[in-house]
Amino acid sequence: MADKGELVLVTGGTGFIGLYCILQCLAAGYHVRTTIRSLKRRKDVKEMLKEGEVTNIDRLTFVEADLSKDDGWKEAVEGCTYVLHVASPFPPAPPKHEDDLIIPAREGTLRVLSLARDAGVKRVVITSSFGAIGYGHTKKIDVFNEQIWSDPNGPNLSAYLKSKTIAERAAWDFMEKEGGAMELSTVLPVGVFGPVLGPDFSISIQIVQRLLNGSFPGAPDLNFGVVDVRDVADLHLRAMTDPKAKGERFLAVSPPTMTILEMAQVLRERMGKAARKTPTRTLPTFVLRLMAIFDKTVALILPELGDRKVMSNEKATGVLGWQPRSKVDSLIATAESLIKYDLV
Ligand SMILES: *[C@@H]1O[C@H](CO)[C@@H](O)[C@H](O)[C@H]1NC(C)=O
Ligand SMILES: *[C@@H]1O[C@H](CO)[C@@H](O)[C@H](O)[C@H]1NC(C)=O
Repeated sequence: MADKGELVLVTGGTGFIGLYCILQCLAAGYHVRTTIRSLKRRKDVKEMLKEGEVTNIDRLTFVEADLSKDDGWKEAVEGCTYVLHVASPFPPAPPKHEDDLIIPAREGTLRVLSLARDAGVKRVVITSSFGAIGYGHTKKIDVFNEQIWSDPNGPNLSAYLKSKTIAERAAWDFMEKEGGAMELSTVLPVGVFGPVLGPDFSISIQIVQRLLNGSFPGAPDLNFGVVDVRDVADLHLRAMTDPKAKGERFLAVSPPTMTILEMAQVLRERMGKAARKTPTRTLPTFVLRLMAIFDKTVALILPELGDRKVMSNEKATGVLGWQPRSKVDSLIATAESLIKYDLV
């Protein structure tokens, strides 16, 4: 692909979505700079990109920057035409104090926005989350789309969901008051699946990992939006350059949602022996309630049990011509990659 000459900053280069955004920007002919928390991980990032059949890796550079600190960010945005702000704190376990998550998410986003504006960046795309749409509602919502916002003060919001909602709100408020000529769009993925490039991947991938490794005694009655990481990256690139994406949010989902039991069925039908440990029945809710007493991660999912959300991707498909692949392909690619890297 011809050299576009433009520089894109992708924050969070070690993350699952970040890696695929780097791959697709390089393939499209952009120069890419990425932030990582420690330059020591440069080699890991390059190795994972190679697994993703990277092209033009000589056009990729690294900057050390941490969301909770000022260092490195000014240098990171310098000379960029676009910024894909993918990085977000996502702890493996709920933090002791929700502010430990909310403050770096919000401050990190505002820092990137104000520095990008000062550096003359044309457009920033922020990776928000379905978490900023689908939670904290007390009234029933028929169809979840971009017009809906989670209520950060509503019931049963985890620190992570709160942090995503507050960070995205803060970003739009910033744009209204002091964004200047810079443009913003946001992409809001549901559970992100797809081929892993190494041991760094999203929390949703762990669902497939657990299904394959037999650590689900039964399938919790949870219902998920599914989207493939390659399609999420593709939507970031569309949101970055399409004039119609300016000032808009885009929900990244391949509807309808799936239950964990349905995911297990797909894996059994297509993965043969590798899927022999997948659960064949639903785990009773009372068992999960008991488990939640000892395990905070289980406690987080309790409010979601039995819930069936309807989600729409009409905006991304209609306005930007986005076409997500099938959920079955995405789940199978996830499973095959976990097997390939010996992660199950
Ligand atoms: C299965 O995968 C999960 C999720 O990554 C992990 O926490 C667990 O230890 C694994 N269990 C086994 C038996 O390998
Ligand atoms: C919050 O969670 C509790 C139990 O986990 C559930 O009974 C309640 O209905 C939830 N509230 C809302 C509004 O989802």
